[in-house]
Amino acid sequence: MTIHIGAAPGDIAQTVLMPGDPYRARWAAETFLDTPRLVNEVRGMLGYTGTWRGQPVTIHGSGMGMASLSIYANELIRDYGAKTLIRIGSAGAMQPHINIRDVVLAMAATTLSTPSSGIMRELSFAPTADWSLLHAAWQAATTRGVTAHAGNIYSSDVFYDERPDLNEQMTRHGVLAVEMEAAELYIVAARYGVRALAVLTISDHLLTGAAIPSEEREKSFGEMVEIALQAAFP
Ligand code: ADE
Repeated sequence: MTIHIGAAPGDIAQTVLMPGDPYRARWAAETFLDTPRLVNEVRGMLGYTGTWRGQPVTIHGSGMGMASLSIYANELIRDYGAKTLIRIGSAGAMQPHINIRDVVLAMAATTLSTPSSGIMRELSFAPTADWSLLHAAWQAATTRGVTAHAGNIYSSDVFYDERPDLNEQMTRHGVLAVEMEAAELYIVAARYGVRALAVLTISDHLLTGAAIPSEEREKSFGEMVEIALQAAFP
């Protein structure tokens, strides 16, 4: 057990999918895993372990924002031996050619700051996805007929951002979408020498104001879970 995870040693699989929402972790585990069992519920942050095509998989919530994700990623890797961590979440599109429901595979994650910024000091570290996961996720998405985009994203610390000029600069520099967790996941994974990727569904569009209807969210989320599982076990 760790401070934030009540799982027994051996209860967490080496492959961990991380949605922000703990209820999404439960839905994904019950929908896609065989014999899912609850392994963590400390502070309501649900984690389930089961198997997918015979392979052990844990689906564990990260919470919202890099501060929350960092706690779980650190403990999952350091204390439970997780080796492959895939964030599955939503993002807001920042480019005109990206549409609602498209999938963005975060090749890199630009950020102003993360919980790891103190270590980096003046270094502008480039948080990047694991290439083998990125490649496999791209193949899984395209095979499934999903429109996917691979590139740079923006991991923001602020949902209600009062600096519209910052978003404009991101758009100008080709950043595909904004979310709030991937950069820190990539940095923590790099620190421990494990693999990480963020698979994101576009839920809203910063340039057009479009948003995915709530009744469609589950279907899009399910598609992402399957892309992530196929990427982990190609
Ligand atoms: N996640 C989904 N949409 C988002 C947005 N517009 N900003 C930050 N995170 C998001």
